[in-house]
Amino acid sequence: MDKSFKLSLLISSFIIVMANNADALVPALYVFGDSGVDAGNNNFLKTPAKADKWPYGIDLNNNTRGRFTNGKNAADFIAMLLNLPMPPPYLSLSEVERSRLITGINYGSGSCGILNTTRAGECLSLGKQIEYFTSTATTDLPKAIKRPPKLRRHLAKSMYLVLIGSNDYNNMVNNGVRNKFTPQDFAQYLVEEMTNHIKKLYDVGARKFLVSTFASCEPKTYVPESCESNYYTEKLVDRLQELQANLFGSLFTIYDGRKLFARIHENPKQFGITYLDVPCCEDASIVCANRSEHTTFDKLGHPTEAIYKIVALDCFYGSTCLPLSLSQLANAPSFLPLGN
Ligand SMILES: *[C@@H]1O[C@H](CO)[C@@H](O)[C@H](O)[C@H]1NC(C)=O
Ligand SMILES: *[C@@H]1O[C@H](CO)[C@@H](O)[C@H](O)[C@H]1NC(C)=O
Ligand SMILES: *[C@@H]1O[C@H](CO)[C@@H](O)[C@H](O)[C@H]1NC(C)=O
Repeated sequence: MDKSFKLSLLISSFIIVMANNADALVPALYVFGDSGVDAGNNNFLKTPAKADKWPYGIDLNNNTRGRFTNGKNAADFIAMLLNLPMPPPYLSLSEVERSRLITGINYGSGSCGILNTTRAGECLSLGKQIEYFTSTATTDLPKAIKRPPKLRRHLAKSMYLVLIGSNDYNNMVNNGVRNKFTPQDFAQYLVEEMTNHIKKLYDVGARKFLVSTFASCEPKTYVPESCESNYYTEKLVDRLQELQANLFGSLFTIYDGRKLFARIHENPKQFGITYLDVPCCEDASIVCANRSEHTTFDKLGHPTEAIYKIVALDCFYGSTCLPLSLSQLANAPSFLPLGN
């Protein structure tokens, strides 16, 4: 190979790397949550809540297991919309990989919740996920991003998804905690806990947050007015407004899927859906032919990739995420922490 050819190869691969970085709307996507976003952390844990076998991942090259759906999940689509790689599961990364990866990590874990009593076997509670992120930000990232002001900018401009809470309402995994409270008090308790978690992320350097109410109504129903979790949603909205006023430079937007899910249920055809709430897989040996015609992938009620895509797109461009769409949040100027 002659020298100039080598050089031009080098230059063009350099340009490709630069172009990829320039296209990304934010430096990184850090993901916290439950099975709606888990990309494979539970593959490494002792839990009945696993998606490590076919047909999970059947539409993700039929060889990537660990997501609780047929293909990509909500976090994956959001990463793609931000022009970032899909964030890999934290537990799948070696120490070396952790110290090199600067485009985001997924800490999500199926069956876990805001409360660390919520679980089926082992999982990463939100507290544990944030502990791991803290280690990412204070131990791993400084190896790749050496100058502290640059690292602070990286953390402040990145996006943080916190999509968790429906398991805290799920009697199968909340270990009876919910029943000890009135619905209103339980919602209040969850919001307090969520607030503490978010403050920890802020203290580490996070500024741009997407926080969820629930992917659907809990207990399961698609009549928006009858969700017990409405109490949580109302209190969360108020609390995040307060936090934004009190935590300098923070920006919050809230994912609320209730209207979108009601729209899908009123007019499924418009979304390409034929089978509402009929799982694609009744058991692990039978899988429907056309996954995108179903809202639901497995018997546990996890959505199909088609639904995650509809939700992610409407959060990014539409009104499922408010007061800012995700694209507005991504493009919003960040108020950088003071100091150098
Ligand atoms: C998908 O993967 C499963 C499990 O490895 C395998 O049995 C099946 O034949 C694969 N399907 C296709 C179309 O490759
Ligand atoms: C929940 O997790 C946190 C952090 O890991 C720990 O400090 C706390 O004691 C745990 N609480 C319960 C009830 O397990
Ligand atoms: C699957 O369903 C979608 C939505 O109805 C439709 O657009 C598509 O053509 C179907 N694909 C196949 C292979 O039938």
